[in-house]
Amino acid sequence: MPETKIIRVLPANLLRGEFHLPGDKSISHRSAMFAAIGDGQSRLKNYSSARDCQSTLDCLEKLGIRIGREPGLITIEGAGIDGIKAASGILDAGNSGSTIRMLSGILAGQAFTTEITGDESIQRRPMKRIIDPLTLMGARIEAREGNFAPLKISGGDLKAIEYTPPVASAQVKSSVLLAGLFAEGKTTVIEKTPTRNHTEVMLRECGAAIEIDKVSAGERISVTGRQPLRALGDYTVAGDLSSAAFFIVAALITKNSRLKLQHIGINPSRTALIDVLKQMGGRIEIADSRLAHGEGVADIIAESSDLKGDIDLSGALIANLIDEIPILAVAATQLHGTLRIREAGELRVKESDRIRAIVDNLRKMGIEIDEFDDGLRIAGPQKLRGARIESFDDHRIAMAFAVAGLIADGETEIHGAEAASVSLPEFFEILNGIRN
Ligand code: S3P
Repeated sequence: MPETKIIRVLPANLLRGEFHLPGDKSISHRSAMFAAIGDGQSRLKNYSSARDCQSTLDCLEKLGIRIGREPGLITIEGAGIDGIKAASGILDAGNSGSTIRMLSGILAGQAFTTEITGDESIQRRPMKRIIDPLTLMGARIEAREGNFAPLKISGGDLKAIEYTPPVASAQVKSSVLLAGLFAEGKTTVIEKTPTRNHTEVMLRECGAAIEIDKVSAGERISVTGRQPLRALGDYTVAGDLSSAAFFIVAALITKNSRLKLQHIGINPSRTALIDVLKQMGGRIEIADSRLAHGEGVADIIAESSDLKGDIDLSGALIANLIDEIPILAVAATQLHGTLRIREAGELRVKESDRIRAIVDNLRKMGIEIDEFDDGLRIAGPQKLRGARIESFDDHRIAMAFAVAGLIADGETEIHGAEAASVSLPEFFEILNGIRN
């Protein structure tokens, strides 16, 4: 077990700065996986420093992929669609749901058996959501209680399927589409609610035949199997909007603050948080937006704001901002109005039970908050009080409550602060550099 780190956060007078963030976690995982099964070399710049994304690289190395790691540059020699080799040992996804779920799609396509597992949190998270479709495609998967890691995946000889995931999940969609690359024929995923589309964007970048059609509120995404994929070549990963979210909210709720975050991904399947914060009166400017490798990027400027309004979030919006709900809840404590979130039960099966973690920690900081099975309700503004916070070994909880500490009375102690490195190892260093 890594040691538990306690970080103390004191109130800030202001936040000022302009900076870049490491690459988007979701895009980084995908770039490494597509580079591994593409033909040729990929040179990934601004690849995420997140521990999760290092787990993906470690797993791919165990599957025979040659990876060069230099500061600021990951070089991957693509093995091609038939080039993955049987692993010498058990693959370790660490804390990363994206690694285990998406890589399982690739492993389902291999004519050998692979065992993949992860840390305690990963071993509690539901895997049936990928086991079901991958089994329908012909893979044999053993799992504890049919649902939990370790997973033992015997693959190969897959058949294409048409599949409608019962949960809105980009990891499930991506797992099935990745498996589809190894199946004969056309594999289709029907999404009732759209989720982040980085896999589809990257499939296009790799020259894959992919079809996307609108169906009622969602989409039908098809990919043809057994086709060669181009490597990504020189590819710069856009800065991580989900990491930027902590700094954006920090700037909005801290007095006399202005932060500029450069070259951040603004794929519309990820920007609902920005829309919601703007709806609350958040002063956020999206500047110099451009397209890079099929993904939108921009500079984001956020300034101290008076937040107001009554906001009700549910339905299709939830998948778009699911990772940002912990920091949105912190913002809501400063809202002149009410934030109500429903139909977000997925939060209970993230790195921690995030509804519990948010409610417990906000209550410790003196906030009145209602907890629902599938969401929460906060009426603001309320004064935050410094308290002893538990990260529950969850990176987004550690970072969200460090931001809360910036405007709390007294000192906030984040126990298990090291969890931040799962997505942004530089978080506390950046925070110290921009505060006064
Ligand atoms: C991710 C999808 C989401 C998100 C996670 C990353 C991805 O998970 O919460 O942080 O990269 O596809 P689900 O697919 O479980 O919703």
